[in-house]
Amino acid sequence: MKFYLAILIFIVAVAIADQDDDLWKSYKKKFGKRYKPEKEIVRKKKFVKKLRAIEKNNRENKKWQMGQNKFTDFTDDEKKVLRGTKMSKRVPKTIENNETIIIDSLLKRALPTSIDYRRWKCLQPVKDQGQCGSCWSFAANTALEFSQCRKTGTAVSLSEQMAVDCDSYNLGCNGGDFTLAWQYIQEKGGAMISSSYPYVSGTTQTNGTCKFNNSAIGAKISFYDWTMPYPNATVSMTYLVNYGPLPTAMKVLDSLFDYVSGVYSDPACIVANDYDIDHAVVIVGYGTTAATSTVPAIPYWIVRNSWGANWGNKGYFLIQRGVNMCNIESWTAYVKVV
Ligand SMILES: *[C@@H]1O[C@H](CO)[C@@H](O)[C@H](O)[C@H]1NC(C)=O
Ligand SMILES: *[C@@H]1O[C@H](CO)[C@@H](O)[C@H](O)[C@H]1NC(C)=O
Ligand SMILES: *[C@@H]1O[C@H](CO)[C@@H](O)[C@H](O)[C@H]1NC(C)=O
Ligand SMILES: *[C@@H]1O[C@H](CO)[C@@H](O)[C@H](O)[C@H]1NC(C)=O
Repeated sequence: MKFYLAILIFIVAVAIADQDDDLWKSYKKKFGKRYKPEKEIVRKKKFVKKLRAIEKNNRENKKWQMGQNKFTDFTDDEKKVLRGTKMSKRVPKTIENNETIIIDSLLKRALPTSIDYRRWKCLQPVKDQGQCGSCWSFAANTALEFSQCRKTGTAVSLSEQMAVDCDSYNLGCNGGDFTLAWQYIQEKGGAMISSSYPYVSGTTQTNGTCKFNNSAIGAKISFYDWTMPYPNATVSMTYLVNYGPLPTAMKVLDSLFDYVSGVYSDPACIVANDYDIDHAVVIVGYGTTAATSTVPAIPYWIVRNSWGANWGNKGYFLIQRGVNMCNIESWTAYVKVV
């Protein structure tokens, strides 16, 4: 009896290994991955471990789903590069511009039940930071592109590479703070358009020498600040509705890399320390899911990432709103153009 059981277990194990082998082969094909034999062993191990995590999450978690993507066989070092935010002190300067007075009157107005800037032409197609910790520059420029376009009516794509190469308040591919990028752009007299200063750090994995040139400025900054008070979802929603997409910082747990749909939430991502964050993203909308028989209605933010349009839901993800999930409500900031 024991003997037959051992044989059965062996057969099942071989069948699973065969299945994993097939899945690995089709994964490599689908995502164009090619490895030398000695590297392949490590990658396949990562992939199979992730497959089990994906299966478990999708069996047990009714709120959001995981799936295979370009990161499924990534190493921890490769994922570390994809987070690149180092926020400095959060010092608001609203007093000098009387923004608190403006926002107090805006807070008295009723908010729409939902808003989604993804449909607006002022939002550029989702971009990809590649293997460079430049999320802070993408977040800073996304909000600036939107503000500029909303004011002029003409869509504009701005240069992320400019701040990566030239902004000495930040650390290029080693990370940065999107409000310091705005400070740099404001002092420099504007942000260049991306066609005059294209993004290359995703493949070079490092910042280059500064090629700033003031003949191709696409947007100039008049004012920027943190939203206040914080964390406060109602305040962030009010700014979002009245000023456009809001860059913010968040903590990225390993589970987020595998997100494909639903409203992301992870109890391990509710953290007490505001400075426990490592990635910059942009909030572009909010809403609430309809309740089902198994899952109650969940309020969410619509968040734009800079991991390419082939990540998540066309480059975006939803995350639970109103509980400061991953600190996402602690760092919202806004920018106005000249
Ligand atoms: C701020 O508000 C005060 C009082 O209403 C006003 O005197 C001042 O000019 C305002 N400052 C700016 C920069 O708008
Ligand atoms: C860019 O890289 C160079 C060389 O590594 C470094 O000296 C410089 O400080 C970096 N610039 C920025 C803005 O990070
Ligand atoms: C500045 O950029 C413009 C547009 O890309 C280019 O035509 C011009 O030659 C550049 N000037 C300098 C001094 O690099
Ligand atoms: C959010 O901020 C508004 C405006 O200052 C305030 O009225 C409200 O009580 C705050 N909400 C929370 C949950 O702190």
